[in-house]
Amino acid sequence: MKLFLDTADIQEIRTVNAWGVLDGVTTNPTLFGKTQGMTYDEVIKLICGITKGPVSAEVVADDVEGMLKEGRHFAKLADNVYVKVPMSENGLEAMSRFRAEGIRTNCTLIFSANQGLLAAKAGASLLSPFVGRLDDINEEGMTVIRELVEIVTIHELETEVLTASVRHPRHVTDAALAGSHIATLPFKIFQQMASHPLTDKGIVQFKKDWEAARAAADASAKSGAAKKES
Ligand code: G3P
Repeated sequence: MKLFLDTADIQEIRTVNAWGVLDGVTTNPTLFGKTQGMTYDEVIKLICGITKGPVSAEVVADDVEGMLKEGRHFAKLADNVYVKVPMSENGLEAMSRFRAEGIRTNCTLIFSANQGLLAAKAGASLLSPFVGRLDDINEEGMTVIRELVEIVTIHELETEVLTASVRHPRHVTDAALAGSHIATLPFKIFQQMASHPLTDKGIVQFKKDWEAARAAADASAKSGAAKKES
């Protein structure tokens, strides 16, 4: 499963990219709102300079022509830009026209397998069901991932399921087991995935044992040398 960072924070992107595990980035207007001092275009161009993987830039217009205008503009910023389009009747038309123009899209705000099926048929390259927000309303977000992955596989649809609205590391494991092609995660979840209290404890213990063993070896070498001298 490919792992994307769900952020517009350049430092976070540089950090996870340096770990060698970054396959792409998703942004949205909320995440862009947390950045300071740069335009959305500048942020997208910077991100595309860090990763060669897909970078999603989201349109905010809700009419077809407005979505097309914003999306065409994003697509010119870098070769790896994917235009993020919200699921809606207008969104479907925009995605279908983007496909005809060779512009790749990420259909966002998917909450059911049927919405995903429609987006796939309209030509979305990526389908983004939001698992956390479904869990928030007492539904089972992972069910949509399982169903959509199965539909895409059975019907050999040319698209990928991108698990979004990931809230904790268990979502990542479950998405991978469900066969999700991609999951996009906040930086904090990458950190949570990398850490385990037993790993931390083990590192401390190994260091302690190593120092004790080295001290014992030094002491025995010294006493050997002293015996030789006497
Ligand atoms: O990728 C979509 C994601 O940003 C939404 O996450 O936590 O706002 O539901 P959340």
